[in-house]
Amino acid sequence: MLLTLPDIQKKYNLYAKEHPFNFEPKELYEPIEYILNVGGKRLRPALVLMAANLFENEIDSALPAAYAIEVFHNFTLVHDDIMDEAPLRRGQPTIHTKYDTNVAILSGDVMLIYAYKYLLEAPSATLAQVIKSFNQFAIAVCEGQQMDVNFESRKDVTIEEYIKMIELKTAALIAGALRIGAYMVTADEQDAFHLSEFGRNIGIAFQLQDDILDTFGDPEKFGKKVGGDIAQNKKTYLVLKSLQLADEATASELHQWLSTKPKDESAKIEAVKNIFTRLDIKKHASTIKNKYLDEAYYHLDAIKVSDERKQYLRLFGETLVYRNI
Ligand code: IPE
Ligand code: IPE
Ligand code: MG
Ligand code: MG
Ligand code: MG
Repeated sequence: MLLTLPDIQKKYNLYAKEHPFNFEPKELYEPIEYILNVGGKRLRPALVLMAANLFENEIDSALPAAYAIEVFHNFTLVHDDIMDEAPLRRGQPTIHTKYDTNVAILSGDVMLIYAYKYLLEAPSATLAQVIKSFNQFAIAVCEGQQMDVNFESRKDVTIEEYIKMIELKTAALIAGALRIGAYMVTADEQDAFHLSEFGRNIGIAFQLQDDILDTFGDPEKFGKKVGGDIAQNKKTYLVLKSLQLADEATASELHQWLSTKPKDESAKIEAVKNIFTRLDIKKHASTIKNKYLDEAYYHLDAIKVSDERKQYLRLFGETLVYRNI
């Protein structure tokens, strides 16, 4: 049966609930239960299941892999929040602030290992392929994360470098979720390729949207600290496009703000946000997001299954890119 998004979410939530991290020592596992249950959109496991459901009606065998992907994603967030000095996630204190950094490191580590434990439940005929692909995109995430940090202290990052960085840190996992979903059923390699390219392009647009929300999001809904990227001197698309469009004085002002970390961040956040607004950066970001969305749909169209079977994935792709949380 072709499942709707709510059907898919229900299936996944039930599986997650039946596989809690209620082990000992509680100092290690309680933070994991906390972060997994505090909310989160659970997009990536939905992508695994939707990818499998493109090709087959029965998709229960993909549930452990879907869980593995979400646990892995949460591991990256726990460590990312240490690296980004982020106080809030999903509207609640981050693990390193609620507990401490050592807890966040080790709980994160063990989540990565549990991700493998659940991946190993994949059908044996596809297991080697699944692990190989997972390793590839897990490595990509780490490479992208390091580039993101490297860029904080650089003034000459290009838009091309930025796109490469978000392709690694974010789009690789979104593409990977879809590819693994395809491996759970009998999709051919060409379809798996197009599905993964759909995910890569959606993933780039998804991170562009994340960067927009980080500055312009509604603090009530966003669940993360608005202005965090500016405070951390992140070289987002908003910054790089502004530097391209700005006159010399504005560019120099922007460089100035993004080369320090003042104790009182609010003036800095306000000033940088004003520059973005003056240059109508949201409009430029929208244009590039739509370019990636179009490219994504080109690949979705190329998959050899009926449009009817693709309808929910098509819709989901758009909501990922136009989300406000
Ligand atoms: C956050 O991902 C990390 C990014 C790649 C931007 P999500 O926006 O999917 O976070 P949750 O899981 O819904 O909290
Ligand atoms: C990093 O991007 C996403 C990961 C690979 C963990 P961000 O640092 O922008 O993610 P958020 O905004 O903290 O969720
Ligand atoms: Mg972050
Ligand atoms: Mg980060
Ligand atoms: Mg972000």
